[in-house]
Amino acid sequence: MTEPRKKMTLPGLYQKVADKQPITWLTCYDYPTAHMQDQAGVDMILVGDSLGMTMLGYDSTLPVTMDDMIRHTAAVRRGAPNAWLVGDMPYMSYQPSVETAIRNAGRFMAETGCDSIKLEGGAAMADRVRGIVDSGIPTIGHLGLTPQSVSALGGFKLQGKSASLAKKIVDDARALEEAGAFCILLELVPDRVCELITERAKNCIIMSLGSGPHAHGQLLIYHDAFALYPKFKPRMAKVFADAGAAIREGLSAYVKEVTEKTFPAKENWFGMPDEEYDDLLKMLKEGSYVHR
Ligand code: KIV
Repeated sequence: MTEPRKKMTLPGLYQKVADKQPITWLTCYDYPTAHMQDQAGVDMILVGDSLGMTMLGYDSTLPVTMDDMIRHTAAVRRGAPNAWLVGDMPYMSYQPSVETAIRNAGRFMAETGCDSIKLEGGAAMADRVRGIVDSGIPTIGHLGLTPQSVSALGGFKLQGKSASLAKKIVDDARALEEAGAFCILLELVPDRVCELITERAKNCIIMSLGSGPHAHGQLLIYHDAFALYPKFKPRMAKVFADAGAAIREGLSAYVKEVTEKTFPAKENWFGMPDEEYDDLLKMLKEGSYVHR
């Protein structure tokens, strides 16, 4: 029998860094997938506001609300009691003020049971990070391609390509660490920039999404890793299993079998004893609908 999985904790994450064991992190948005990820031993789960695109079909993450995030994060917690669970602060849930940020981070913790929150932005958001951390909530920063600023960044593309833009990301990482972030996600920055930030981090876990192998661990969007997003496949993502193809094949088989009347088969339904059925016919004939 396999050992039951232990709950991942903050010391557990730091221990992985100390042991030079890469941390595994995936996005997740629903109960059954959360259950599978927890069973597979994924260290961290992010309920990303990417759910606006992967689950709700919007073209960006901007329409996602706190209520959307709370509902999905609570479902993921029910399915994944052991992974370190991160709730992603949606657009305008922390930008307006430090107080707004603390209140919404508090909602995440109180209403979903998640272990920490993540928000986008560098030095400009450092006071939000400080406020949330001082409220006792472990906080993750997110730099590089930050999808909530996709218009300002000019699209979903590599960030920090030039020395001066890379310097800004390095400075932002320092500001977030100084504000108390225990972890920073670097999305789509050059591998060498990610390596520099990882080397310079003092007490901060650096995670990579499309930013190369030198971070303390890797994050992937679940729908990219399992070919479930119909609109595009980012170059940075590897397809680990083509679940999309398996589901499409199953759907065609379902439509075919129902159409051809080969489903349902005998084992897919339940019968009724002859005497009960005869009684039923009698009752119907007599106009009697009384329960026995
Ligand atoms: O919302 C999300 O899934 C994210 C990832 C793109 C990092 O923030």
